[in-house]
Amino acid sequence: MRQVVISGTGVFTPDEVITNEELVVCFNAYADRQNEIHAAEIAAGTHERIEHSSEEFIFKASGIERRHVMDKNGVLDPDRMYPRLRKREDSEPGIMTEMAIKAATDALEAANKTAADVDAVICAASNHERAYPAIAIEIQDALGIDGFGFDMNVACSSATFGIQAAADMIRSGSANCILMVNPEICSGHLEWRDRDCHFIFGDVCTAVVLEEQSQATSDTQFEILATRCLTAFSNNIRNNNGFLRRSLPDGLTDQRDMQFMQNGRQVFKEVVPIVAHTILRHCQDEGIEPDQIDRMWLHQANKSMNDFIGRKVLGRLPEPDEQPNILQDYANTSSAGSIIAFAQNSNDLPAGALGIICSFGAGYSVGNVIVKKAV
Ligand code: COA
Repeated sequence: MRQVVISGTGVFTPDEVITNEELVVCFNAYADRQNEIHAAEIAAGTHERIEHSSEEFIFKASGIERRHVMDKNGVLDPDRMYPRLRKREDSEPGIMTEMAIKAATDALEAANKTAADVDAVICAASNHERAYPAIAIEIQDALGIDGFGFDMNVACSSATFGIQAAADMIRSGSANCILMVNPEICSGHLEWRDRDCHFIFGDVCTAVVLEEQSQATSDTQFEILATRCLTAFSNNIRNNNGFLRRSLPDGLTDQRDMQFMQNGRQVFKEVVPIVAHTILRHCQDEGIEPDQIDRMWLHQANKSMNDFIGRKVLGRLPEPDEQPNILQDYANTSSAGSIIAFAQNSNDLPAGALGIICSFGAGYSVGNVIVKKAV
């Protein structure tokens, strides 16, 4: 069997940052306005009052302190509360392609590769800015890559499922080197006017170069020892905006279910055991004891959730360097979160170290990648 390595990673981080404080000021201004507009109905008991949000709650409930976004002004305008993006001509690269090129350029440089070495592009993300042509093909064209590209979506698990798809193609010989990118503009599908979730997401793009081990020349390489993907249907994280929307009664009028919706408590309760079980079972099947795992790069949605998973897998609370979190600076960046954690916290590991990249989220979905530092 051909051995596959991750030979390079890249992270594009948008310049603009929204702190919890800025977010709460905006949300509370919006809430006050809405409450004023609906004062009579609120007094009559026919309209629900919107309570203020709080920085203390956000940090305590999630561990998030700030998030990067592609457009801060639109999000923080209480009369709008979603990004304001420039209209692009069809002849220009789309915004997801622009983000992907930046992350991909860094990943290719780290992997010591050029576009000519790459056979395929996978754009794995929880949203794609259009239905077709595939974003991956636009990225392929912009970078000058021969071969093929395709988009895939498994929500927050898109990147790990993308790694499994790429690794399987390289193992089977249908490609030798694959660029897998995750442009996540979560600010576009977050409902910034919903107090329960307005703090959750941020924007970013990650990129991973995977290739057949014998051709890899980069300074840092991680062998992919095994991958496992799992899905189980749940409506607890859902977005009903799709191509049939305009065909429905009142389809395109602004409605709550056109954005990210979740039953957060339920997700927390149900997903933690599924993830811990998947990691433990996968390690057991590969003959790896939990105490042999040197590092876990988990999906970055919630600090307590990660602490629970770490404790169940290791049998004790992981040390910060055993399970690095980046969500305090990036918030939840959907499929990119575990890849940011990996990209920013893996070079220091010695050769032979074992690690796990694990994502989880809507679907439900869990993607587990067991890696060993090769060099
Ligand atoms: N500011 C202040 N208080 C808030 C608030 C806000 N922004 N949002 C909710 N609250 C209040 C609620 O009204 C509730 O008050 P009550 O106890 O008086 O009823 C209380 O805080 C707890 O709300 P709850 O929604 O149960 O919070 P939580 O502790 O479950 O935390 C999440 C919410 C979303 C952070 C958490 O459930 C979570 O991260 N779940 C997992 C999500 C996940 O991984 N999703 C994957 C997405 S891809």
